[in-house]
Amino acid sequence: MSKTIKKICCIGAGYVGGPTMSVVAKQCPHIEITIVDMNAERIAAWNDENLENLPVYEPGLQEIVAEARGRNLFFSTDINKAIDEADMIFISVNTPTKNYGKGKGMAADLKYIELCARQIASVAKDDKILVEKSTLPVRTAAALKSILDNTGNGVNFHILSNPEFLAEGTAIQDLINPDRVLIGGENEEAIAALVNIYAHWVDQSKILTTNLWSSELSKLTANAFLAQRVSSINSISALCEKTGANVDEVSKAIGMDTRIGAKFLKASVGFGGSCFQKDILNLVYIARSYGLTEVAEYWDQVILMNDYQKQRFADNIIQTLYNTVSGKKIAFLGWAFKKDTNDTRESAAIYVADYLLNEQAEITVYDPKVSAERIYADLDYLNTRSSEENRLLVKVVNTPYEACDDAHAVAILTEWDEFKSYDWKKIKDQMKKPAFVFDGRKLLNRKQLEDLDFKYYAIGE
Ligand code: UDX
Ligand code: ADP
Repeated sequence: MSKTIKKICCIGAGYVGGPTMSVVAKQCPHIEITIVDMNAERIAAWNDENLENLPVYEPGLQEIVAEARGRNLFFSTDINKAIDEADMIFISVNTPTKNYGKGKGMAADLKYIELCARQIASVAKDDKILVEKSTLPVRTAAALKSILDNTGNGVNFHILSNPEFLAEGTAIQDLINPDRVLIGGENEEAIAALVNIYAHWVDQSKILTTNLWSSELSKLTANAFLAQRVSSINSISALCEKTGANVDEVSKAIGMDTRIGAKFLKASVGFGGSCFQKDILNLVYIARSYGLTEVAEYWDQVILMNDYQKQRFADNIIQTLYNTVSGKKIAFLGWAFKKDTNDTRESAAIYVADYLLNEQAEITVYDPKVSAERIYADLDYLNTRSSEENRLLVKVVNTPYEACDDAHAVAILTEWDEFKSYDWKKIKDQMKKPAFVFDGRKLLNRKQLEDLDFKYYAIGE
């Protein structure tokens, strides 16, 4: 008989913790879930009456929060109380790439995780099951266990690894109907307790249990494989542009081979998001630290190819605009790293903007879900120029038409559906001539744009 979980605490109310726990609360109304975060502003936003103000935008999330919040889903800054009361604690704090010291730019920074572990150890008065939700380097569970066992109040902690495979923009669907749920651990009873939670809505055949290390490594490997597909097709897109092949046609032709499969073969301006680059860097770092140089270099190429793709997109804009963008207005449609999310972490748009700003371009950005504050913060974070300069050179506007007004070129950075249905004739009429469109997502219809007299460039054509 496994322990029945009545109360869950989730530490970290971000893109993983928020949607994941909302779905658990929806599917398990008998379990009380409290999501805590040290960021009071974020918690206030999760508690906002107006669901438009939730800190995470995901299709379907507002409805679930409306249903469960106040019933069995709570958001709070009282971390100690939630830890104390919970039978099971999910750790969904951020694990960014280290930006200092050993492993700088490669290894995951585990300081947030360690802080959590120490806080749990100091507060817990009875046995707890701890679930790693954040993506972590292999063997983090061992570090967690060591901290807990040596600093705690003599209670038992069972650690499980339960990596999250949701993709932003489709998080709710992915959580309700996952390809698989992976649970790694050593203690049978703890594993069974977590299996029982998922079994409320996920078929048992899709719930996979493994040892801790396999589970931790599977998460990194899954993201590395996915990112590798994108870099592979992007490398082919460069070749298509030279040879006259069309990368969409190549994707379709190879994707129909069931061994290859059709998904994740869309050439783009480059992958972004909080996971792919970070997880590969992690994998590379781990491989290096075990002396596996060839393995490290193999995976490193996936990132180099992604950097090359972003640079190539920017270079093509500069070259096509007669080798200079100095003083020219470039309209950016999209800033998020993919459609249907307000997340911008590692978005290709940030790097493309940075290259163009180095060439003294002036950029106007429109994104349906990303705030001006976020866009400036992304640019400031690069430290390429002062924040005053970023504000001078980049304008963020509220409509696409404002963004494109008087622009020399439009660059599509995110594949938002709404971009397809704009009045492109109106946009053309407002622009400088010749009017250029650089489509980093292969989103628009070439014929339609060329009929309107646009000079249309798309990745891989
Ligand atoms: C990814 C994994 O898919 C998910 O399982 C894991 O839990 C977290 O990391 P996410 O980063 O949210 O999810 O989005 P994903 O859909 O994987 O897209 C990542 C990036 O790759 C985006 O910038 C996207 O635009 C790009 N991409 C994806 C392509 O350029 N082409 C494709 O064919 C697919
Ligand atoms: P992810 O995409 O992994 O969910 P986010 O950055 O969106 O990452 O969310 C992580 C959240 O974890 C942030 O809101 C951050 O404030 C919170 N957090 C980090 N460390 C702690 C901690 N020790 N205690 C509570 N919350 C934390």
